[in-house]
Amino acid sequence: MALIEFDHVFKHYPGSASAAVDDLNLHIEAGEFLTLLGPSGSGKTTTLMLLAGFEAPNSGTIRLGGNAIESLPPHQRQIGVVFQNYSLFPHMTVAQNVAFPLSVRKLPASTIATKVVSALEKVHLQSYSERRPNQLSGGQQQRVALARALVFEPRLVLMDEPLSALDKKLREEMQLEIRRLHRELGVTMVFVTHDQAEAMTLSDRVAVFNQGRIEQLATPQTLYDAPANPFVANFLGDNNVLTGSFESDVSHACGAEITAMRTADGQFLRARASGIAAHSAKTASTLCVRPEFLRVAATADALATSNCLNGRLLDVIHQGDHWRLVASVEVSGGGNVAPQWFAKVSPADLPSGLTVGQSLCLGFRPEDAWIF
Ligand SMILES: Nc1ncnc2c1ncn2[C@@H]1O[C@H](COP(=O)(O)OP(=O)(O)O)[C@@H](O)[C@H]1O
Ligand SMILES: [Mg+2]
Repeated sequence: MALIEFDHVFKHYPGSASAAVDDLNLHIEAGEFLTLLGPSGSGKTTTLMLLAGFEAPNSGTIRLGGNAIESLPPHQRQIGVVFQNYSLFPHMTVAQNVAFPLSVRKLPASTIATKVVSALEKVHLQSYSERRPNQLSGGQQQRVALARALVFEPRLVLMDEPLSALDKKLREEMQLEIRRLHRELGVTMVFVTHDQAEAMTLSDRVAVFNQGRIEQLATPQTLYDAPANPFVANFLGDNNVLTGSFESDVSHACGAEITAMRTADGQFLRARASGIAAHSAKTASTLCVRPEFLRVAATADALATSNCLNGRLLDVIHQGDHWRLVASVEVSGGGNVAPQWFAKVSPADLPSGLTVGQSLCLGFRPEDAWIF
């Protein structure tokens, strides 16, 4: 049995046109690190607040350990929460902030003191217990919020974009810290972010949110290698996109089912089939190729694939470990207004003598691209 179950949960804020959470079905296993990833306004915070008990669903059931919890107040749910803005009490010391959930639960003072020391040790803040929040850096405040969420040994810890206010280096440090805590404590964690790299670093599984619904729930690797639809393909990692009409022409390569798409000007392209049963011939389709799979050459012969598009080189950017080539793709007609594509090319594979403005060929193997 899953630790947490959302069963057909709806949340509609009064006065808004659409549901913030729209028929959500989600199971979270005990001990797992699950991330809710999605653009701003997609319902991530609302989902977390429904779980924590700060919002109530309009309909549907939320279960924790098999028991419905919609009518339980937050402090009876055994859930620790790290809010987006930390929400530390400014007039209290670090130790008092961390003690707060225990004081509310009316534990004996000696028990509280022991648990506070232990929680501060977990986040490496034992020597800061008498400071006030305004005497701490952003990263240290984050640790206090984490210690406060962990201090009553909750079954579940929820974190809402806890690292978004930190600079890149500190954010990456805290990501490793959170990974360590998750491993050491074995506590179930549900984490919210709009940052795909952060989601991939931390998570056992990621739920990709869009407009109050989950587009796909899978491991980071599956989301990246086998996205269910163009939204997921574009939200995780870069993508080059082209629209066209579906051609049912199935073959196989490298164990993958390959199908085809025709562009508005009649070019025939092959790629992995996704949701093929839903398609019939001439249905509008989208082709997606990640920049690291796009090959670039002056002539089509050099590419050794039948998937070739003519383009024009717009820019060549050095990014340290790779080159980023920007090209406009020449596809006439339809809704394609010369889409801009990107190729990520390792220094060893960069064709020599490239000049901005030149025409070139963009190619990819069928097994490295998707048709949705
Ligand atoms: N308290 C509220 N009252 C009315 N609408 C809200 C409230 N909180 C969030 N919303 C709306 O619900 C939708 C989902 O918001 P939210 O869950 O905060 O998304 P996210 O955390 O993914 O950015 C948005 O359209 C947002 O404007
Ligand atoms: Mg939010």
